[in-house]
Amino acid sequence: MRGNKQAMRQSVVLLICMLCLVLEVKVGADYIPPARLDGFVYRNQHHPDSVLIEAFFDPVCPDSRDSWPALKQVITHYGSPVSLVVHLLPLPYHDNAFVASRALHIVNALNKSATFPMLEWFFKHQGKFYNAQTKNLSRASIEKEMVKSVTEVIGRSYYSSIKSGFNDRKTDLHTRVSFKYAASRGVSETPFFYVNGFLLPGTGSALDYKGWRKVIDPLVGSNSGKNAESFNWFL
Ligand SMILES: *[C@@H]1O[C@H](CO)[C@@H](O)[C@H](O)[C@H]1NC(C)=O
Ligand SMILES: *[C@@H]1O[C@H](CO)[C@@H](O)[C@H](O)[C@H]1NC(C)=O
Repeated sequence: MRGNKQAMRQSVVLLICMLCLVLEVKVGADYIPPARLDGFVYRNQHHPDSVLIEAFFDPVCPDSRDSWPALKQVITHYGSPVSLVVHLLPLPYHDNAFVASRALHIVNALNKSATFPMLEWFFKHQGKFYNAQTKNLSRASIEKEMVKSVTEVIGRSYYSSIKSGFNDRKTDLHTRVSFKYAASRGVSETPFFYVNGFLLPGTGSALDYKGWRKVIDPLVGSNSGKNAESFNWFL
């Protein structure tokens, strides 16, 4: 009898374990593949015929920050014949990369147009969230600081939405998707660039404006590229 009871108990434990496993697999599977392609589209426009630059950034990475002005300048220069999609890769050795990336996903959900201003804010103030500067801070206090900062950038009226954004599992999953997407593209450092799906030569180190022009000019069919309007045929 005793043996039977023990066997039964073991069976029940086994059943619970299997159930947990199934649930875990289900939970794990609900964000792969994601409902929509990862990435933030600059200027909210991406024409299918345009040259597509994909940038992989970590919002608290100094090299990502340093690469942004030249890339922004070049995108502005060409106008609509060139599109930019930014993917986030929160690097594991940057302690606050994940929470900063999550903040960007939260902002993107609240006001798409505020995403890039928020990214630029991180680039400007990322020193606040470096490893050494936050070494003695708890996760909770960093998150609190993050909510405060995001509120300052996108507006007081969003305060409670931003706060609840950090407790919303969805924003956590979106950030994980960003990480997994970068990994699936073979990206393990930032900044990292693809142009029309092809790895930019010498990637990992930022290009300056001239370097970008050298890459993009031939693709948009012009050496001068001064007059973005002349590319209207492209659309
Ligand atoms: C969304 O963000 C943009 C850019 O920061 C801003 O101009 C606009 O007023 C914001 N819209 C709302 C509804 O908050
Ligand atoms: C962290 O705490 C240590 C020990 O109290 C202190 O020496 C160090 O300066 C602190 N670092 C920062 C960035 O506050």
